[in-house]
Amino acid sequence: MTVIKKVAVCGAGGTMGAGIALVAARAGFETICFDQSADGLARSRKAAQKFFDKSVQRGRMSADDAAAALARMHDQTELESLADCDLVIEAIFEDLGVKQQLLGTLDGLCKPETIFASNTSTLSISEIAGGCERQDRVVGMHFCLPAQVMKLVEMSRGLMTSEQTFNTAWAWVEAAGQKPVQTQDKPGFILNALLVPFNNDVLRLIDEGVASAEDIDTAICSGLGYKMGPCTLLDLIGLDTQQRLGEAFYPITQDPRAAVPPIVRRMVAAGILGQKSGRGLLGAAASREPATDGPGFHVVRAGDSRSFSDGDAFLARAVDAPAGVTLCLGGAYAPDPSKTAVLVELGTECLGFHTDEDSGREGSNVLGFARYCNGSDAPSKLIEIVRQPNTDRPALEAARAVFEAAGFDTVVCADRPGRIIDRLVRPKYNDALRFLDEGLALAEDMDKTCCLGLGYPDGPIERVTRGGLDWHYEVCTAIFRMTGQAAYSPARRAVVAHDRAHNHS
Ligand SMILES: NC(=O)c1ccc[n+]([C@@H]2O[C@H](COP(=O)([O-])OP(=O)(O)OC[C@H]3O[C@@H](n4cnc5c(N)ncnc54)[C@H](O)[C@@H]3O)[C@@H](O)[C@H]2O)c1
Repeated sequence: MTVIKKVAVCGAGGTMGAGIALVAARAGFETICFDQSADGLARSRKAAQKFFDKSVQRGRMSADDAAAALARMHDQTELESLADCDLVIEAIFEDLGVKQQLLGTLDGLCKPETIFASNTSTLSISEIAGGCERQDRVVGMHFCLPAQVMKLVEMSRGLMTSEQTFNTAWAWVEAAGQKPVQTQDKPGFILNALLVPFNNDVLRLIDEGVASAEDIDTAICSGLGYKMGPCTLLDLIGLDTQQRLGEAFYPITQDPRAAVPPIVRRMVAAGILGQKSGRGLLGAAASREPATDGPGFHVVRAGDSRSFSDGDAFLARAVDAPAGVTLCLGGAYAPDPSKTAVLVELGTECLGFHTDEDSGREGSNVLGFARYCNGSDAPSKLIEIVRQPNTDRPALEAARAVFEAAGFDTVVCADRPGRIIDRLVRPKYNDALRFLDEGLALAEDMDKTCCLGLGYPDGPIERVTRGGLDWHYEVCTAIFRMTGQAAYSPARRAVVAHDRAHNHS
């Protein structure tokens, strides 16, 4: 039950404001759509009409309800029209001074009980609230793009926000049909705090030539079940937006992963922004179809396979020696230059551990591979294939074909710690575990944020716990030894789990 009847959205002529106004009007609230730009408001009204028309066509709303919702949206360019609103949600430019000035002006115009909510992504709610006297009635209300589709709203309190304000705002978000989660007033709240450094890591992986954007997306979607790969998402949100997010977060957090990767500056300078410019991360690699037919392979093994259990259907495809490809499982490895390819199963070690390394000249018919698995979870359909700088082309093609013919998804990456997936996700799991310790949000709210806001099948806390915190410790420690990067230093909760499992005190 909400006491709020009349809502205003400031910046309703912009991307987020237009969507938030739709949410409010659709849920039955009289909605003032305010913007300094009349053109922006006209664009948003057209988009609203189209959105409601589509909702009717798809059977989500009756024609009468759609007409009534549209009639509840009132365009305004005069601030005075907001005076009797119960809730004002600002979604104007991401600029502290501009937001503070708006709240200061509204303070003198609106009735004393009006609540001000900010949709800021990167600024502090406490600082924005500093622009007005009613700091106890200012709250963070962060919608996701597009607001009319995405249900998640991250709610945060500034230092002075009263419980009554927070509870009233929360009840309104629920009444508007959205799903609120609670977080602290910290840079990026939950979603962007996890996503911005992760996306930057993806960009660094591409810049370092570890894997193509296409293969990174395949790895993440196949291995983790994400609906959208990170490169597709980056092309959608725009590399200029990613640059702005990094520029906003790094000075506050001093987290090296939040700093804008050089590749982003180069691409933005060249006008390569993603979908909005017609060229982005994806599309640079030559497209290829998965192989339907693969060469024969025979198996040598020294111990249990980490990728295939004994009854695995893939192993039934093996032929008796001699075959063109040798599959070395469970720590087995013997070079054989007469083969098209020798495929060595890897754990957390690099391929160079088996083949030795030679100042960047390494490469032969030997490749590494690993079937991605989140610790004790069931193994995925993804095979990460590891190449060296001078790996034979036919050997690489044979490796892909062996696995693809058996129905696996394959990706190719350089011989670096963590390959693609663990290199990208382990820092995110560490962040989530640390956020839990720091009280940023509850575990279920962090997981809910990732599922609702990003379409993940599960959240970081659920996944890392299910896969095993001890396993997370093992993987992180292996990568940390090779990179020295703090992001891989296992989070406290993983150290505790490891020490308990191994009886250390
Ligand atoms: N774009 C996203 O993905 C996203 C997601 C979540 C939150 N946000 C946040 O939402 C806010 C808006 O972002 P956007 O992407 O919609 O921006 P936008 O540039 O698309 O829209 C901003 C709108 O605000 C209007 N405006 C600016 N100053 C104004 C003022 N003083 N009074 C009235 N209107 C004013 C502009 O005319 C414009 O129509 C920002 O705080 C941003 O951080 C953005």
